[in-house]
Amino acid sequence: MTRSVGLIERYRADLPFGPDDPVVSMGEGSTPLVHAPALSERVGADVWLKLEGLNPTGSFKDRGMCCAVSAALREGASTVICASTGNTAASAAAYAARAGMRGVVIVPEGRIATGKLAQALVYGARVIALQGNFDEALRLVRRMADEHPIALVNSVNAFRLEGQKTAAFELLEDLDGELDALCIPVGNAGNVTAYWKGFQERGASPRLFGFQAEGAAPLVLGRPVERPETVASAIRIGNPARWEEAMAAMTASRGAVRAVSDEEILDAWAFLASREGVFCEPASAASVAGLLKYGADGCARIACVLTGNGLKDPQTALDRAGGVVPCPAEFGALEAAVLG
Ligand code: F0G
Repeated sequence: MTRSVGLIERYRADLPFGPDDPVVSMGEGSTPLVHAPALSERVGADVWLKLEGLNPTGSFKDRGMCCAVSAALREGASTVICASTGNTAASAAAYAARAGMRGVVIVPEGRIATGKLAQALVYGARVIALQGNFDEALRLVRRMADEHPIALVNSVNAFRLEGQKTAAFELLEDLDGELDALCIPVGNAGNVTAYWKGFQERGASPRLFGFQAEGAAPLVLGRPVERPETVASAIRIGNPARWEEAMAAMTASRGAVRAVSDEEILDAWAFLASREGVFCEPASAASVAGLLKYGADGCARIACVLTGNGLKDPQTALDRAGGVVPCPAEFGALEAAVLG
């Protein structure tokens, strides 16, 4: 039997943790990298999918949270707090529970996917529904953490990026260093910043193509968006905290930040599920939507980061997918339903 190794254990030499530091881990990281034959054919390149939705709470946030909560525990904090469009909240709630700490998460009221809300509640966090958007929530929790002895675990916390950079290490290891470009959704801009840090630490420089939803594309527009709007609730963010670093990373890599429409996001999301058998959440599909829209740009091998699990957002799935076939409990009716 092989025991699951969490990312601090796997990459301790690259992370700011000593051998005696407390580690709050659930076997995060080491996610599958799967080849995408249908997508590869469509874009004329060798395309791979990094399935970050297979982390313990179903998103890449667990990489960062493992490090942020471990560091908070080391510092003696008893409460962690974050603002979130949902995944950070679920992850913070889980790691706080495991650490025996209090978790407090601030989410925009009525604007996060059902699965994420259920997770945060079941893990036992205090879930505060703010009558405002993510950007307002982040501004307020930053002040809370300034004025109270509470650890802030949003990606403004440097430990978050330390944990998340390990995904870049895994990509390079799994592809023997042969990677020309990375396609990644961008919201608060922490993850693209973290990947760049990871690539740079390994001496690699794949081109970084970040994708924002058209209605929430401050980096593309070059100015904050006051009322961000998109079906991809995870990246409904108008004023990213890691703005400058993310732009610097994409520029240094000879990449770009670009916008995709909600329709393009949902088309890519449906394509991934129906052709590759991979069910991600809508925000994650922005990476693939961008690749399909703008093309491989001369890159031979490309990895798309699928940041979150499709089960996070069952409502969007049920609203968009085909309906079920009703059937009376008798064989003739079943035959008609199956063969019809
Ligand atoms: N994809 C998913 C599924 C996300 O949940 C997020 C961010 C992103 C992409 C964008 O990553 O912010 O580092 O640029 N979700 C945060 C949250 C904001 O609160 O869960 P980013």
